[in-house]
Amino acid sequence: MSMTVSVRVAECDDDLLEAARIDLTAFGLPFARTPTAIESLERSLQWRRTTTTYLAELEGRAVGTARVYDMALSTPGAMSVPVSGVGDLGVLPGFGGRGVLRALVVRMLDDARARGHVGAALYASEATIYGRFGFGPATRSRRVRIPVARAAMRDDVSIAVGRTEILEPTEWFGVLPELYGRAAARRGGEVSRSSELWANVLCGSSRTPGTRPGEWEATPGADDRFCMVHHDPTGAPVSYGLYSIEESWEPEGPAHSMTVHELVAVDAAAELALWQALLTLSLVRHVDAWVTTDSPLLYALEDRWAPSVSGEHDKLWLRIVDPVKALSMRRYRIAGDVVLSLTDGGPAGEPLTVALSVASGGATGVVVEYDGPGQLTMGVAELAEVLLGGGSVALLASVGRVTEARPGEAARLDAMFGWSPLPYVTHAF
Ligand SMILES: CC(C)(COP(=O)(O)OP(=O)(O)OC[C@H]1O[C@@H](n2cnc3c(N)ncnc32)[C@H](O)[C@@H]1OP(=O)(O)O)[C@@H](O)C(=O)NCCC(=O)NCCS
Repeated sequence: MSMTVSVRVAECDDDLLEAARIDLTAFGLPFARTPTAIESLERSLQWRRTTTTYLAELEGRAVGTARVYDMALSTPGAMSVPVSGVGDLGVLPGFGGRGVLRALVVRMLDDARARGHVGAALYASEATIYGRFGFGPATRSRRVRIPVARAAMRDDVSIAVGRTEILEPTEWFGVLPELYGRAAARRGGEVSRSSELWANVLCGSSRTPGTRPGEWEATPGADDRFCMVHHDPTGAPVSYGLYSIEESWEPEGPAHSMTVHELVAVDAAAELALWQALLTLSLVRHVDAWVTTDSPLLYALEDRWAPSVSGEHDKLWLRIVDPVKALSMRRYRIAGDVVLSLTDGGPAGEPLTVALSVASGGATGVVVEYDGPGQLTMGVAELAEVLLGGGSVALLASVGRVTEARPGEAARLDAMFGWSPLPYVTHAF
């Protein structure tokens, strides 16, 4: 006999601790047992309280959990849409395969719709889990290792002038969130960080500070990270990099390695100025970083073969629950009219056909529900792959995941949807 899973929102600290226990256990991390660990977990409840935590129960016993952050997801042309950012999703070992994940996802998507969110966004732990729920990979990141000895820039590239300096941790909160917000407008895929998320990013979850901004200042940077900032000639910050360095002294000399945790810039020239500063630090032999697949760095190095690629990842997966709103809240590269048949675009997963009309390049589109055949047919997962301006409708059509009523429709949609720079997500959640 199959048991029904019920999902409820956590109401009290005991619920939140239960959720933390389930989540850590699902990810194979020991639940806090020592007094210090319990203390830090209790502190982390402060920011857990600012999100919606779900508990899934089987016969009254909590066995699964997920957390939702309200986020703004950037879309092409300096716009954004509200989304449910899903994180910390886990099911207790021993209770897998009974539909607990499914019940959590169904509930979160219903709530996303009810809140007026355009969809739900998450980092997938495995590529094979979320497609069945209509999620599609919406961004792409590349892991590179750059040997500093081969990292000279070409002399014909545009690098921002100004000054680059280390920012003291006490100044991080004053500079980084505002700069991150400005940089996010450049491309699709970036998600907003609430002040609680910023506290978590800059202070670490074990040092989550209090609710007053003043309390944050003592804690950021209390780990091994440095922050380098580039200022333009007027003194305005235009790019930053958070990085740490691992020492290594070898017989032939220093061979430290640098890990860049995030590099955020308002434009390509500001990004290159920051890279130039990072790639010329003494003692460092190589630099590891995630970059966009269209990173200016890859086009600015004299030795284009210098960065070795150790992986590529899609990072952000998106499940669109409101295709009309999603298509309305971005700009398009060129004018055009197109009718899209979304096989599962309706609220209950039923087909939905929409007509998109864009009057001029760089404009938003008018989107209405449409009664008639589509020029292109796809699922919401395919729409998620191309909505933010990356991905390729033509490639999806070539493997049969998008159907064209007439040859050439997919290429036409690519011309409208494509955007530069490509979508990217800096925040990991
Ligand atoms: C991944 C996890 C959440 C799955 O939970 P679950 O309750 O066993 O999943 P369900 O029983 O609800 O499965 C729902 C569907 O997903 C599929 N599925 C579940 N886990 C899967 C996996 N690891 N890979 C591929 N498919 C998976 C099931 O086959 C099922 O498919 P169907 O309904 O189409 O037949 C759970 O194994 C877990 O907590 N893992 C460790 C933490 C983790 O990876 N969390 C995800 C973070 S993004």
